[in-house]
This record gives sequence, structure tokens and C-alpha cells, in this order.
Amino acid sequence: LFSAVEMAPRDPILGLNEAFNADTRADKVNLGVGVYYNEQGRIPLLRAVAEAERARIEAHAPRGYLPIEGIAAYDQAVQKLLFGANSELLAQGRVVTTQAVGGTGALKTGADFLKRLLPNAVVAISDPSWENHRALFESAGFPVQNYRYYDAATNGVNRAGLLEDLKALPARSIVVLHACCHNPTGVDLELDDWKAVLEVLREREHVPFLDIAYQGFGAGIDEDAFAVRLFAESGLQFFVSSSFSKSFSLYGERVGALSVVTSSKEEAGRVLSQVKRVIRTNYSNPPTHGATVVASVLNSPELRAMWEEELGEMRSRIHSMRLAMVEQLAAQGAKRDFSFVARQRGMFSYSGLTAEQVERLRSEFGIYAVSTGRICVAALNNSNLEGITRAITQVI
Ligand code: LMR
Repeated sequence: LFSAVEMAPRDPILGLNEAFNADTRADKVNLGVGVYYNEQGRIPLLRAVAEAERARIEAHAPRGYLPIEGIAAYDQAVQKLLFGANSELLAQGRVVTTQAVGGTGALKTGADFLKRLLPNAVVAISDPSWENHRALFESAGFPVQNYRYYDAATNGVNRAGLLEDLKALPARSIVVLHACCHNPTGVDLELDDWKAVLEVLREREHVPFLDIAYQGFGAGIDEDAFAVRLFAESGLQFFVSSSFSKSFSLYGERVGALSVVTSSKEEAGRVLSQVKRVIRTNYSNPPTHGATVVASVLNSPELRAMWEEELGEMRSRIHSMRLAMVEQLAAQGAKRDFSFVARQRGMFSYSGLTAEQVERLRSEFGIYAVSTGRICVAALNNSNLEGITRAITQVI
């Protein structure tokens, strides 16, 4: 049965964790996976999360099955976070939200549902994009293409290329867009870019799939939902995958959601029934713990305020590490202008390091980064920064 099974390549991101864990060097640093570490180099357990967990444990809540679509209080809280508490769409009952197994689970549920709706569609992702986007949509049966996005010459967006490529896609393609904190580049679209993209999507009848895994890590909770809200006002039907892995520091709990914007309440009911079928035949119904915690925090004014403060602390610590990194690289005499790092948003910096330079960082210094040159700036702290910037300066 298995004699012809070939060895699959290691996952470009999570595979790095495996290599990192096996590395015995004491001063090793993991800048590979997108995880926020605090100034002490640890993944924080947020105070708001700890409070909500304590209340849950004290309540000795039974662990029955959840509804297929997840916890209602969670799904509603997700909707308000994404679309805004006063959203017209929500008032009209046009948005279907189901709890998902992380942002990845949301993408896959959405992809499987789309495969039934548009079996011959092409999926387009940014060049570059999160490593798993291509694999995930391909595994749902779609051919996946790139649209131009990052311009290495300016460390910005290739605006003309982006619009040209979106126009050139077959009509009714599925277009995956990073709503904020673009992974891996940290380079986001500006207001006018989003408007221009929206018009092309409308003209070509493309189906937008907004992926928002870093809400609150860019400029703020509402600010980072800008694109979702712009699309909500546009009258288009679209998909949103969202995640609390980073914003709640709940990586291993797999807390995400899929939202589908439909054109009427009646349509939403039918769409929900089909999304539920996809979920039921994949993993039946979602797990309880993480989503219960998130719902408790978002629905309690005190815990919510505590969470927003903690999220703000994470956001500003990342920003200060960006500034410190630029400064340190210059101080170390790096023969390259790294000022763009300070302008990038979210957890990542597309550093411009080549695969060979990344490999040298790993083998000579025990510093792990993605081979594309993506580094997780949320893993920098005042203790490891000097060593990391010195190593980068040496390999370039
Ligand atoms: C990342 O890009 O590092 C994160 O989104 C984690 C993952 O699942 O790849």
C-alpha cells in the first residue's frame, strides 16, 4: 500500500519549527513562524484570557457537542469585530459566520464550499503570499495563480501590475486578499488601492476572499478592518477568514471563523445550511475551549477593555522593535538601507535576505527565518536584537 509513497517536502513554515526544536544551541532564535513573543522571549498568556479561563474552570461547564456552526455568542462577536457593531449588513442578517478551526480551517471550509459553487474557477493569490494559501486552495481542487503584488525595488506595492493581473484573470475568479498586515511582506494596500481593486473585482465579477489573521496588529482593531468594511459597503458578496491565534495569543487553540457576505437574509439561511454540510463532513463540529474564552472576553466590557490594552501593548512593542532593528542595523554598519522595515505592518518583515543568506543565519548563528527572507519581527526583543542584527549584517 505504501511502497510508492514519496516523502513530502517539509512545510516551509511549520517545518522550520521542527528543525528549530531539534537544534541544541542555547542561543538559537526562531524568527520563522508568525508567533508573538514578549520582551522575555515567551508566548504570552493574556491576562484577559487567564481571567476568562478561570471563570470557565470554576463554572465546571459540561463539554457537550457544539452546534455545527459553533457558539452563537462567539460567531456574533466575530461579526461585530469584523464588520463593526453598527453594521448595516449585520442588521439585515446578510452575513453568515461559522466558528472555524483557526484561520486555516476557515480558509479550507470556504474553499470547499466555493468548489461546489464555482468548480471551474481559478484562485488568485498575491505574489508572494502566505505559503499555505496556494497549497490549501490546490488541495480544495482549484488551479492557483499569482497576481503581482510586491515590488522589491520600492519595498512597496506594484500597483499597476496588481490591477493589470486582476483584470486579466478569467471572469469570476476567486481572489484572495490580505485585509491587513500582509503575510509575508508587511506591505499593505492604501485606501485608494483598495478602492481601485474593488472596482476591478466588481467589473470582472471576481469573488473576493479576504484573509484577516492579524486584526489589531497593524494600526488598531477598527483600522485594520478597513478593507472588510469597505467591501461590506460595496454590495459585493464575499468571504472572510479570520483568526484569533495572534490577537488573543491562542495559537494552539485554533480559534478562527469563516464569514460569508450574502445578498439577503433568505440567501444567508441557504448558504449557512451548505457551509454546515462542509463542516459536518470535515470535522463534525468545532472545539469548545478557545471560542468560549474569546466570546467571554469580547462580550464582557471589563475583559474586552483589558484585551484591547494587551493587544495595543503587543502592537506597540512590535513597532518599537522595528525601529530598534533599523537603528541597530545602521549602527552595525549594514551596507543596505533597512528603513523600509519600520514602515511595514504586522508581525513580518520581508527583509530582502536571500535563501542562501537565510541558510547562513541558521547554520552559523542558529537564527531561523523563512527561506523567502521573511522574518518575524514579533520575536525580536532587546536581549536578542543585537546578536540578530550583527548576524544579518555579516551574512549580507
Ligand atoms: C505564519 O505565517 O507563520 C503563521 O500564519 C503560522 C502558520 O500557520 O503558517
